[in-house]
Amino acid sequence: MASYDVIIIGSGPGGYVAAIRCAQLGLKTACVEGRETLGGTCLNVGCIPSKALLHASHMLHEAEHNFAAMGLKGKSPSVDWKQMQAYKQDTIDGNTKGIEFLFKKNKIDWIKGWASIPEAGKVKVGEDIHEAKNIIIASGSEPASLKGVEVDEETVVSSTGALKLDKIPKKMVVIGAGVIGLEMGSIYGRLGAEVTVIEYLDAITPGMDSEVQKTFQRILKKQGLKFVMGAAVQSCEVKNGKATVKYTLRKKETEAEIEADTVLLATGRRPYTGGLGLDKIGVELSERGQIKTGDDWQTNVKGIYAIGDAIDGPMLAHKAEDEGMACAEVLAGNHGHVNYGLIPGVIYTHPEVANVGATEDALKEEGRDYKVGKFSFMGNGRAKANFAADGFVKILADKETDRILGCHIIGPSAGDLIHEVCVAMEFGAAAQDLAMTCHAHPTYSEAVREAALACGDGAIHA
Ligand code: NAI
Repeated sequence: MASYDVIIIGSGPGGYVAAIRCAQLGLKTACVEGRETLGGTCLNVGCIPSKALLHASHMLHEAEHNFAAMGLKGKSPSVDWKQMQAYKQDTIDGNTKGIEFLFKKNKIDWIKGWASIPEAGKVKVGEDIHEAKNIIIASGSEPASLKGVEVDEETVVSSTGALKLDKIPKKMVVIGAGVIGLEMGSIYGRLGAEVTVIEYLDAITPGMDSEVQKTFQRILKKQGLKFVMGAAVQSCEVKNGKATVKYTLRKKETEAEIEADTVLLATGRRPYTGGLGLDKIGVELSERGQIKTGDDWQTNVKGIYAIGDAIDGPMLAHKAEDEGMACAEVLAGNHGHVNYGLIPGVIYTHPEVANVGATEDALKEEGRDYKVGKFSFMGNGRAKANFAADGFVKILADKETDRILGCHIIGPSAGDLIHEVCVAMEFGAAAQDLAMTCHAHPTYSEAVREAALACGDGAIHA
């Protein structure tokens, strides 16, 4: 069979980006993918389809709640679920075909099928053995299971099933107030479902700045989402297409139950490495099942590398992409680098939530001397005009040096706004550097500048 400089296993954002960069750097490259289409979880059953449904359901929300006030009169649109699904599929197809085009353009071979690694330097797909000087595992992740809750992808669904429900449920229970639970819960809430989110902890979105957590939960409640906090789900029983979810309220130690037409299990994801044969060739895994790698993404077996959700770190497409590019540089004999301290996180609800760097809670815990510059979107003219003034920008900076340590945004286009702070932090900027940069008026970005000004002599519109 053909022989390559590098074979990449998996064509998600980690794998396909690694493949393109390897090819651009002159390496003979193949990528193995067993799905019918390229793009992995993100393009097929994750980031992209969920964004299509978030967009469509947000448009409906705008029509129902804000059109009349703008003088746009008439009946609110009704939901044609089949057409919405078709729109979602078109969005997926456009993206996955785009990757296929990029593979052809960069002369990357797509080896179709599921791969295993019989030994270093060899990749088996079906009956064929392909040779490669180096192998990159970019096999991604899968939904984690929860004891007592069996996913049938009909009544009890993972994020994959939640993207293609037969119909919009009347009552939906979401287990887990993390990113997936809140994005999918928002979609079905806006489409008319009564959504109850059951969360084990006392706050939503673990690890996020606690001030943002509180504001975010308040806004979601206002949008109609119900929350049961501090509740550990024990079981889920399905009878005649109806589910009963039983949970224990941790503090009171009481038990309760709730019925639903659809239950979404969104309690995290785990690395997907089954079937690769890693145990036979001695690739080391952590206790959590992640492939262990060194700083150069090489595993303990020479010539076998791993990136993305299958290794340590946040399970984010853009983290995998960065590792894919850096790992390709390493294989081409160059230096590869990922700044793990500056990986933004975004939740694509309305409003969006975005963060980068340290949370205020972490700075407090460290005992660090810091200052806070905060600015509400209520003081931003553009946000007010667009019915998007709920939320704020919060910049955390070192008290003495003014260097930016973190930024937390809840508000319109937060996922885009965060990047000017990422760039500033990458260059080691002080809050004053942002504050002195001219920002066009009227834009949402002015709120970022105002938060930076608030780290110094004060915001103008506060
Ligand atoms: P998550 O880790 O974000 O949240 C899971 C939640 O479930 C936690 O709040 C946890 O406390 C709760 N939980 C765990 N066991 C429970 C129980 N028995 N009863 C009640 N609650 C329980 O996981 P999620 O949302 O499933 O996302 C998985 C991964 O996918 C994450 O790493 C996330 O970053 C990534 N992702 C990122 C997106 C984005 O960047 N916009 C979108 C979708 C997924």
